[in-house]
Amino acid sequence: MIGAGWVGLCTAACFAELGHEVVARDIVPEKVESLSRGEVPMHEPGLGELLERNAERLTFTTSMEELLERTRLLFCCVDTPPTYSGDADLSRVQSVIDDLGDSVEHAIVMKSTVPVGTGRSIQRRREGLGYVSNPEFLKEGTAVEDFMHPDRVVVGAGEGSEGFADRVAALYEPLGAPIVRTDVASAEMIKLASNAFLATKISFINEIANVSEELGADVLEVARGMGLDERIGDKFLRPGIGYGGSCFPKDVSALKQLAGNSGYHFQLLTAVIEVNELQKRRTIGKLQKHLGSLVNREIALLGVAFKPDTDDVREATSLVLAARLQGEGANVRVYDPVAAQKAAELLGGARVCVSAGEALDGADAAVLVTEWPEFAELDWAGDVKGRMATPLVVDGRNFLDRDGLREAGFTYEGIGR
Ligand code: UGA
Repeated sequence: MIGAGWVGLCTAACFAELGHEVVARDIVPEKVESLSRGEVPMHEPGLGELLERNAERLTFTTSMEELLERTRLLFCCVDTPPTYSGDADLSRVQSVIDDLGDSVEHAIVMKSTVPVGTGRSIQRRREGLGYVSNPEFLKEGTAVEDFMHPDRVVVGAGEGSEGFADRVAALYEPLGAPIVRTDVASAEMIKLASNAFLATKISFINEIANVSEELGADVLEVARGMGLDERIGDKFLRPGIGYGGSCFPKDVSALKQLAGNSGYHFQLLTAVIEVNELQKRRTIGKLQKHLGSLVNREIALLGVAFKPDTDDVREATSLVLAARLQGEGANVRVYDPVAAQKAAELLGGARVCVSAGEALDGADAAVLVTEWPEFAELDWAGDVKGRMATPLVVDGRNFLDRDGLREAGFTYEGIGR
């Protein structure tokens, strides 16, 4: 593995679990040292156990020489964050390729999400290097489960790299999933198109939710009825306060840019992005509807991570909400079971609390941002109601017991209900 971040580490641990010897190389010496000591640098369910159980098969190093000497398949797992233009920043991928020297015995297996055409251009510039595109479809919070039970595995063979592609495909065979053997450009497009489609599905159901609010339908009933149609499916039809994370916002924008750079205006994705931005901000209107001006109002944000079971706050809706609320003059408190301290700097002047109770003390409203199970288990009717100055809840994930809260005297606003 080149890069022991979230993708590299989850992939390394899972391949080790399947019985392979894995060497993971990262350029940050402190990270390599702490991984070698058995420390897990991120919150990902099941990852710690896998790393511990397979410690003998896993080596962490900063040395590219060691990697090249001991392995032939080099899984590139470095990140490709968005640039200001919305394109993907490929500088880390480029420096990996530069570090490889001129070996012709190795293949790069690209796991990083890259623009369509990247594989072809790498192979043109670096003659003799094997190249396989093997995009990852892991979700944060369920990465180990997703790796072990994939819906499909995509393996795109570069020019002259069929043999390497066979070896990559063989690694996944024990998982029993369909293996899509294809060319590199198509494999690259499968990744971007899959994420863009899922984001489109979310923006679609969010718009249905918004219209349902106007017309008196309940979007959860609507999604249930739609989802039973096998052509639609029930996954990724949960309305909320917008998608976040390190992938959907970046990949939708990367595909839009990629299309634009090639002369095609991808109108649908432009709308998907806009709907998502507006969705995050609709919460402000819901608060104003009940509280009027938000100046000096105390607003508690429950959850900071972009979704539960992760401490990742990249492109998290909480950050947009905290800033927007402060822009309206409100005082913001936040609580998250794992992500709040990490995000403190990004939350502007928001007060980071050590418990949900502290965040809710004297609050004029609670906004549920991340559906951490502990928020459903709070004693809303008793303890929480007693603490809050105004019993107002905006449930950004339709996660809480709406009827129970209303019976307990709360004003409850969900999404699309
Ligand atoms: C996503 C994809 O689901 C993975 O297949 C892919 O490998 C990954 O990006 C990637 O490209 O690396 P991830 O970002 O970890 O995975 O998280 P998701 O579970 O997909 O959730 C993304 C966002 O969509 C979250 O903010 C979540 O709250 C939101 N979401 C998801 C909804 O608002 N509604 C839904 O129905 C589902």
